[in-house]
This record gives sequence, C-alpha cells and structure tokens, in this order.
Amino acid sequence: MNQIQEPLGVFTLDKLEAQVKQCKKCNLQTTRTSVVFGEGSAKANVMFVGEGPGEVEDRTGKPFVGPAGQKLDEVLASVGITRDEIYVTNVVKCRPPGNRAPNKKEIAKCAPYLEAQIALINPGLIITLGNIPTQWFLPNAPGITKVRGTYLAWRGEIKIFPMFHPSYLLRNPSRAKGSPKYLTWLDVQKIKEWINEYPA
Ligand code: URA
Repeated sequence: MNQIQEPLGVFTLDKLEAQVKQCKKCNLQTTRTSVVFGEGSAKANVMFVGEGPGEVEDRTGKPFVGPAGQKLDEVLASVGITRDEIYVTNVVKCRPPGNRAPNKKEIAKCAPYLEAQIALINPGLIITLGNIPTQWFLPNAPGITKVRGTYLAWRGEIKIFPMFHPSYLLRNPSRAKGSPKYLTWLDVQKIKEWINEYPA
C-alpha cells in the first residue's frame, strides 16, 4: 500500500516532507540536487501550485526562489500578499532536467504527495500557475488563456483559480491593457479580495 494513504490523523506535513525527501519513485531522482517539497503557512487558506522546481529551486530546496519566484513575489507584493500567509508548492517535487515540462508518468508518481499536502493544509482556494497544474486538477479545462482569472470547482468545496505562470510573464514584459501582466494584476486583486473575505 502507498504509505501516503496511512491515516491522515497521525500524519503531519513534517512527516510527509521527510518521506518525500526519500522519494525514488521516478527518474527525476537521478538528476535532482534537492527535493523541493513546498513552503509557507501550514494553516494557509490559499495554496499556489506551480509546475516543478527550476535550477535555483533544485539548488536551494525551496519553491519559487529563482527568477520566476521573484516575479511571483512581485505580483503578490502588488496587492500586499506575503509568502507567510500562503503555501507554495509544485505538481512535481524534483526538477525536470533542463526545465522541461514534467511528463505524465512523473506527474502521476508525484501526485499522491500533492494530494497529501492538500489534505493536510486543507486550503479553500488553490491557485494553479500555468497549464500543467491547471490540467492536473481539471483535465478538461480549456487552455490557461481562456481559463485564467475564473473560479472553478474541484471536489466540492475547494476552488481552483488559474493564473498565468510567472515565467510566462517574464517572457511577456508588456504592461499594456490586455497583456498577460495586466491580466495577472487583475487576477491577483481577486485573490486579495478572496483572502480578505476568507482569512486563514
Ligand atoms: N517554476 C515552477 O513552476 N516552480 C518553481 O518552483 C519554480 C519555477
């Protein structure tokens, strides 16, 4: 039996992290430097889910600390959201070599860890950054350009709110009306309103 399915009552984020750090379930273990489990408030009501660690994340063991992470922090700071009031993780916990997208098999092997993080943190809102996490939660969702900035239901009581991945914003620096940055600025304001309405 998958160890992750042991009774959640005796399971903690720390125990889960210790287990994930030993993971050898897919090939990414052979090229990783660190397992990037996730970070933030264990009591957060908002969880951000990215794709997978990049180079700086692999080196430091922390999620979203490289260029994409700095962009994410900038977006959050524009409405006064800090990392200590949210929880940040990725669909896969080990860096895909060369920053390629994680494949279906890697995602499937890693998914029980994300499932367990969600069960332990129990957020009301999950922000999916880009297509990969959005499609994991909602395989039939349209592409990110169509679906971003909308609230979608997941397993009843949890809401999914897709946003552009911060790397996409780095590649599209325009702030013009209708640009990805402009739309993200609108989206993060909605998140701030949600946090104000449903504090942790
Ligand atoms: N990109 C991601 O999707 N996640 C990270 O942690 C860093 C970059």
